[in-house]
Amino acid sequence: MSVREIVTVGHPVLRERAREVHIDELFSPAIQGLVDDLIDTMRAAGGAGLAANQIGEAVRVAAIEVGPEHPRYPYKPQIPLTVIINPVIEPLDEELEEINEGCLSVPGLRGTVERQMHVLVRYLDREGVTHEQVLRGLTAGTFQHELDHLDGVLFLDRVRDPRSFTTWEQFERHHQSAFVAHARAIVERYGS
Ligand code: NI
Repeated sequence: MSVREIVTVGHPVLRERAREVHIDELFSPAIQGLVDDLIDTMRAAGGAGLAANQIGEAVRVAAIEVGPEHPRYPYKPQIPLTVIINPVIEPLDEELEEINEGCLSVPGLRGTVERQMHVLVRYLDREGVTHEQVLRGLTAGTFQHELDHLDGVLFLDRVRDPRSFTTWEQFERHHQSAFVAHARAIVERYGS
C-alpha cells in the first residue's frame, strides 16, 4: 500500500481506454495492490474519487469516497468507500444537470459539465461480488466522472462553455455560493 503519483492532463495514459480486469486476476497482488494504492492516493490527495489511469495504470478500476464535510467538495453528499471494477453505466432517463467539477489530474481548474441525474451502474467489488446500484443527483455525477476516466475522457472534454473555466481560487471568490445553492437544490430534488 502506498501513495502514488497522480498523473496530470497531457499524460497519454489519461487518454487511454482502460482494459477490463479478468476475473482470474482479480485476486492477484497486482490488482489488489492497485486497489489499495488507489484508496491511499485518493485519500492523501483529498479526492472524491480516483481512477487507475490517474496513477498510470490503464485498467478498469476506480475508488470513490466522500466523507462528511469533504475538503474539496463540501456540498457533495457522503458516499461510503466504493471500489468499482469493470463498471458499466446506463442512464435511466433524460434528466441532466449542470455540475461544476474539478479533477486531481487537472490541477487548479474547474469547469461546468452536464451529468445524467439517474443512472444504473453495475460493477464488481474487490472481492468479485457483482453490484447493481441506481444512483441519483451529485452522486451519479461523481460516478460518471470516474467512469469517464476509464474511457480516456476528462471533464475538460465535456465542458460546453469554455467561459465556465475558473481557477479554484476564483471559483471560491466568485462562483461558489451560486453553485452551492444549485448543488443543494439538486440534492433536494434527487435525494443525493
Ligand atoms: Ni478526475
